[in-house]
Amino acid sequence: MMTSTLDQTVSKLKQHAQRAAGNAHSPYSHFPVGAAVISGGGQVYVGCNVENASFGLTQCAERAALTAAIADGARAGDLQTLVLYTPGNTAHSPCGACRQVMHELMAADSTVISCCDSDAVRRWNRAEYLPDPFLPEDLNPAGEPQR
Ligand code: THU
Repeated sequence: MMTSTLDQTVSKLKQHAQRAAGNAHSPYSHFPVGAAVISGGGQVYVGCNVENASFGLTQCAERAALTAAIADGARAGDLQTLVLYTPGNTAHSPCGACRQVMHELMAADSTVISCCDSDAVRRWNRAEYLPDPFLPEDLNPAGEPQR
């Protein structure tokens, strides 16, 4: 069977996400997560979860990868595919906070894929991973005067 371009991209992103998960700082949850996101131009950015003894300061892997992308010059709307990886045999769902940030920074036709060490894979398009999002337009609803 031919491996499609998308499959090759996903498997490359999975490798990056696995490597990032190996760098996770997760001494409290013992739940390492890695993420890798690719731009339209093929640039790959990675992130891992970074926990803190002050638990609320924990950063998720997906938002770390998206933040790295923006810091390195990727533009909002130009991020196409994000793969998250967690060790073990379950492909986990990305958290709600990450979904909101994905929605704002990734392309309208973007895909989010969760993978693990088994063959289990889960995929979401943007409408699936965050229906009815809070949008930039909500900050300035048409017709409402600015105060
Ligand atoms: N975590 C992520 O990195 N991404 C998610 O989408 C869900 C949760 C991290 C946060 C924390 O370090 C650990 O997983 C357990 O919640």
